[in-house]
Amino acid sequence: MKCYHLPRATGIDDLVPTERDRPEPGPGQILVRMRACSLNYRDLMVATGRYGGPPPAPGLVPLSDGAGEVEAVGEGVSRVAVGDRVAGTFFAAWQDGPPLPEHHKHALGGSVDGVLAEYRVFDAEAVVRVPPHLGFEEAATLPCAGVTAWNALFAATPLLAGQVVLTLGTGGVSMFAVQFARAAGARVIATSSSDAKLERLQALGVEAADCINYRSHPDWEREVWRLTDKQGVDHVVEVGGAGTLPRSVAATRSGGMVSLIGVLTSGQIDPTALLFRSATLRGVYVGSRAMFEAMNRLVDVNRIRPVIDRVFPFAEAREAYRALQQADHVGKIVIRID
Ligand SMILES: NC(=O)c1ccc[n+]([C@@H]2O[C@H](COP(=O)([O-])OP(=O)(O)OC[C@H]3O[C@@H](n4cnc5c(N)ncnc54)[C@H](OP(=O)(O)O)[C@@H]3O)[C@@H](O)[C@H]2O)c1
Repeated sequence: MKCYHLPRATGIDDLVPTERDRPEPGPGQILVRMRACSLNYRDLMVATGRYGGPPPAPGLVPLSDGAGEVEAVGEGVSRVAVGDRVAGTFFAAWQDGPPLPEHHKHALGGSVDGVLAEYRVFDAEAVVRVPPHLGFEEAATLPCAGVTAWNALFAATPLLAGQVVLTLGTGGVSMFAVQFARAAGARVIATSSSDAKLERLQALGVEAADCINYRSHPDWEREVWRLTDKQGVDHVVEVGGAGTLPRSVAATRSGGMVSLIGVLTSGQIDPTALLFRSATLRGVYVGSRAMFEAMNRLVDVNRIRPVIDRVFPFAEAREAYRALQQADHVGKIVIRID
């Protein structure tokens, strides 16, 4: 079978196509014919050696997110059947309950092989059926970005209809957060580096209630304050990281929630700002299979269609990485596996 691997991880050019034996499912496992994968910012960090932690094993197959159909099942598998349309979970061993350090040992495309391959064997417990209205390319966007946005908004302090959610930028996680918040009946304030991207966001029918260009409004938290009658937002989906966090906290209402997700910027924060707001800062690291399944119910009932910016053929996987690096996208970048 064809796949890509990273003999080393110092840049996008290290990503090279290769041939490997098609794997066979053992007891409790399934063989999935992968149909599409999607990229996350994390995949760029892995390929360029910036992800932190132990470096990826030489020859790692990258990417956590993919969808396909079950082609064969091993002995004792009853959870899924041949022909089912499935996606792997980001953490292969985190099915439910709180996150545990051992889950990190089974993160696809990081500590274990990922899904940029024609076939992949999964534990039958480490996949979910994808919503029926989604094509494979759409379903391939869900495992990391979708589950992370769902975890942020619903897992700890569930978002309520009528509340206000602040999203940063128009990347994969943020666009899911916009869609999920709207589906839950919340108001959205979306930020971006670019008016053109904000126009695209509105044109996609996502209908963020208010948009702020954080380049033309460097003090964007003041705009948020103005737009919320000096109340602040109930929830921030914080993909920027340390550099944007002080402004995100300043934009949060008393008792509000800031979900810390991203590492796009660096900086420092004075924690007393959280104290004076009695706000909660909660770290989010993707999520469990149970969260994935709960998110799929939200996606299914509301017929949510993930926002895909571009789809690249398998042969152009490196171009897909470069497109992510360029950051001109809105939503997700996908690789089709024909
Ligand atoms: N903790 C987790 O479980 C988890 C899961 C997924 C992702 N993440 C992290 O979350 C971040 C986003 O990931 P992604 O996959 O959604 O990335 P992505 O699709 O590559 O999106 C990145 C976008 O972020 C926006 N951005 C960049 N700098 C910004 C800034 N200073 N302020 C506000 N927005 C900024 C840009 O959009 P505009 O041009 O529109 O501003 C950029 O296109 C990354 O740091 C990633 O590592 C964490």
